[in-house]
Amino acid sequence: MLLVKNIAKIVGIDTQHRDRVFGRDMDNVTTLDNAWLAVEDGKIAAFGETDTMPDESGFQRVVDAEGGMLYPSFCDSHTHIVYAGSREQEFLDKIHGLSYEEIARRGGGILNSADRLHETGEDALYEQAMQRVREVALMGTGAIEIKSGYGLTTEDELKMLRVIRRIKESVPLEVRATFLGAHAVPRNYIGRDDEYVDLICREMLPAVADEGLADYVDVFCDRGFFTIEQTRRIMREACKYGLPAKIHANELDFSGGVQLGVAEGALSVDHLERSGSAEIEALKGSLTMPTMLPGAAFFLGMSYPPAREMIASGLAVALASDYNPGSSPSGNMRMVMSLASIRMKMTPNEALTAATLNGAYAMGESDKLGSISVGKVANFFITKPMPSPEFFVYAYCTPLIARVFLRGEEYS
Ligand code: NIG
Ligand code: FE
Repeated sequence: MLLVKNIAKIVGIDTQHRDRVFGRDMDNVTTLDNAWLAVEDGKIAAFGETDTMPDESGFQRVVDAEGGMLYPSFCDSHTHIVYAGSREQEFLDKIHGLSYEEIARRGGGILNSADRLHETGEDALYEQAMQRVREVALMGTGAIEIKSGYGLTTEDELKMLRVIRRIKESVPLEVRATFLGAHAVPRNYIGRDDEYVDLICREMLPAVADEGLADYVDVFCDRGFFTIEQTRRIMREACKYGLPAKIHANELDFSGGVQLGVAEGALSVDHLERSGSAEIEALKGSLTMPTMLPGAAFFLGMSYPPAREMIASGLAVALASDYNPGSSPSGNMRMVMSLASIRMKMTPNEALTAATLNGAYAMGESDKLGSISVGKVANFFITKPMPSPEFFVYAYCTPLIARVFLRGEEYS
């Protein structure tokens, strides 16, 4: 049993056990001042105001929050954190004027990462990814979805997914794995992309399902990558193996990916830089979580998704980092929240809801994660003393996360 005392404010409480929060409610973040929180068996057991605090002697461990605030850990529902090496050469190419798509057409981008991944052994890949996982855990992330998609052959996709499984087994974060064989058409299939989709459906998906390596399937459904028809086919095939979809949609064009995702029951549609009223209408009343990745829009200098319009339309929205070597080489969810506030005019409260409970929904975990609620996994962090929760998003470069707890144990 663990007791955290001297908490200036618990931020992000949900006593209603909602699976996600919609529209204007996203701005109503429940807080509790001068509080304590108790953990038992890795779960949040109770919390309350200081005058109701149980006797310290009943606890094995007492942690003094020293007047900091306590937040639920971030749920980062979209990352590509398993990759080999880095792509700063393309960063230079972008500085010199090439676009993401131009780099991809020259054989760079995802194919560049696929070449490096092919040359890298499973152990080295695991070590590189674990460094990033440790980095994001200390920055407040307590749940993370990780995609394959730099393999692009059956063998290398399985290699990536086995690395994700190893991560899942070795860290206290909650990890979800997504099979993204349809991330790009590999070089030997260029001009024969339907044959590559055949390979995904006939060989890769059965192999992935056979080893139980994935929780979800994903497709990069966008201009120059995979079409609506190809995406639908992969989603339906994955459905036979019980794998719900999380779709990369509308990053480069009004691809129809959002409408398809909703129609086919995708758990989330992600990116959405190219979205308007048709996409918003499609999402209304659906089970699909629109997920925005402002780190990618920032890094690639793209326009940002219409967050205000989505929220005004009553949609629940999520925020994720998209941590990957090509379009978002950072998994800092605080920075993602700040970008959401600065560039998409989301309030700090809306950004927090999007990065926690709604992110948990987008990884199918909102019954266990994403808020301070009795019975949920005790994944939270304590900040240094701050004047207000808004300060956490405003002072975007100040290190403010003091201590991290995952499954009720301190992570350092
Ligand atoms: O979400 N857009 C597609 N996939 C990634 C980028 C992958 C890469 O460039 O390596 C993304 O932005
Ligand atoms: Fe992505």
